[in-house]
Amino acid sequence: MTLSDHTLPKPVPDKSPFWQALDERLGLSGLAYPVPEYANSLPYVLGGITFFGFVVLIITGIILAQFYNPTPSRAHDSVIYIITQVPLGDFIRSIHFWMANLVVVTAILHLIRVFTSGSYKRPRELNWLVGLGLLAVTLGFVFTGTVLKWDQEGVEALAHNSEIGELLGIWGVWFTSEFTRSVPILTRLYIGHLTLLPAAFTLLIAGHMYLIKYHGISKHATLEATVDDDEQDAVSSSFTLHLRRLLGYGLILLAIVGALAVFWPAALGQAGIPGEEVTKPPWMFLPFYPLEDVAGINGLVGGSALLFILLALVPFVDRSRWLSPRKRRWIMIVGVLLLIVLISLGSYAWLSRPVPHLME
Ligand code: HEM
Repeated sequence: MTLSDHTLPKPVPDKSPFWQALDERLGLSGLAYPVPEYANSLPYVLGGITFFGFVVLIITGIILAQFYNPTPSRAHDSVIYIITQVPLGDFIRSIHFWMANLVVVTAILHLIRVFTSGSYKRPRELNWLVGLGLLAVTLGFVFTGTVLKWDQEGVEALAHNSEIGELLGIWGVWFTSEFTRSVPILTRLYIGHLTLLPAAFTLLIAGHMYLIKYHGISKHATLEATVDDDEQDAVSSSFTLHLRRLLGYGLILLAIVGALAVFWPAALGQAGIPGEEVTKPPWMFLPFYPLEDVAGINGLVGGSALLFILLALVPFVDRSRWLSPRKRRWIMIVGVLLLIVLISLGSYAWLSRPVPHLME
């Protein structure tokens, strides 16, 4: 039994006959966990909104996969076909594109919420690491998705992919064309986008949800709250209310994405020319771009590895009892400084001209 089972009121059952009939057959209430009142606010629903975004990405991704051709000679043309010939193809592709971007935003905001409320502390250290795995997989989706367009940006992303693979030696061989001559690397990255990354995501999200249910939502980070009294506020609200809130915010996100898709459809550049390097990476990779200016592919790999290592260390260096950000001043200052460095590097990269790194 967990601490939360002992201390928390049971989730309030939903009395609707439809729900009861469904629950009797499927035992859905077994998936519910006690949700304190404060966990229905936007900051505490960001993880759920991210999950909602992934559901939209899966649905639109399945539709796109019916028309995309992952062979190098046909890939770019098949994207043009999706945009110009497939009914609603441009719109569905744009929903997929914008939702991928916003899911990165909501995942980062979720991380910031968990960081600020000290929710990575004992006993949730492992779930923080699982969350970091989910973030890495999310970025992997964006990266492989960028290659699939097979325009100039995609071809350059692939060139970086291969360089990184070579840098990692035997550990990175999967990311290079040397892995096999029977399947082009573009096709393998497509397979990664459709099978390996979703499999990793499914395992990680199952673990994430299991641990959330096991530990319950962390205590409200008030001034006096500590990890020692890890129990929620007495007022537990209904789980279905939590789901309804989540769905409401998710639909607002979908409406924003829909508007973006209508007014700013996802771009597609000219068919890529291998050997040229004239584009910049998607925004979430921009903070590492100046590091590549300085130290080439080592800067890119070293910088991103350092960021993930620093984040992974958070629960192990901040071991105080306190949850309130006001009583965790030094880690909050480090967090804010890290954010400022990342935003400054990203802004510098955004404003500067693209520089060839790989093919001088
Ligand atoms: C990228 C996809 C992710 C999804 C879909 C996701 C989903 C969720 C959901 C639904 C919750 C329940 C509470 C809430 O919504 O805030 C949650 C809690 C949590 N997540 Fe995530 N998460 C993701 C990424 C991350 C990341 C990047 C981190 C941190 C490195 C993280 C760490 C945690 C922790 C520690 C909790 C427990 C928080 C608490 O008890 O207050 N998650 N996550």
